[in-house]
Amino acid sequence: MAWSRIAVFASGQGSNFAALVQAQREGRLGSGNIELLVSDKPEAPVAQRAEEAGIPSLLLRPKDFAGREQYEAAIVAELKRRDIGLVVLAGYMRLISPVLLEPYAGRIVNIHPSLLPAFAGKDAIGQALEYGVKVTGVTVHFVDGGMDTGPVIAQRSVEVQSEDTAESLAERIHQVEYALYPEVVAALADGKVTLNGRKAVIAD
Ligand code: GAR
Repeated sequence: MAWSRIAVFASGQGSNFAALVQAQREGRLGSGNIELLVSDKPEAPVAQRAEEAGIPSLLLRPKDFAGREQYEAAIVAELKRRDIGLVVLAGYMRLISPVLLEPYAGRIVNIHPSLLPAFAGKDAIGQALEYGVKVTGVTVHFVDGGMDTGPVIAQRSVEVQSEDTAESLAERIHQVEYALYPEVVAALADGKVTLNGRKAVIAD
């Protein structure tokens, strides 16, 4: 399983997927190569983006399977078939079960639009505005069985302005995501990230 062979999982717009594809084109993804898009929403805009980019996609509706385990087993079979070594969640709005977590232990990462452990789960940007924090941000972390609870790999802060709406704050957070995620994925693909307990370190 080469770390450089990447599958991106996404459920929606796929702007982070597009940023990763762009980074690869511009030589900013290290030895990373995006081999596959996996989406649980075949009608989502991200599927169109993959088609335009010429990246194969696996579009499976969970409800077409007997249960989550069977759905994920179908995904794992395709990941193995393509010798995928790194799973990059980019707006994939489902919890991952042991069926996928176990064969890819330590090889699944996620991006979340807050400074975890603050504002885990859904609508992190709305949660931050509601709470009234002055600083929020972006976290890239390893995925474990919990909701946004895995070891943090990298974080970047974003200031909240008094006039911010959910839209304006999301826009600035997205810009930070588009810069940060390719950097971290490149480091992972190049084998520069080590994990000791909960402590992840990116080598220079
Ligand atoms: C991103 O902001 C990502 O951080 C967030 O979903 C958005 C997807 O946007 N993920 C989560 O909230 C995960 N809990 P995109 O589809 O345009 O990349």
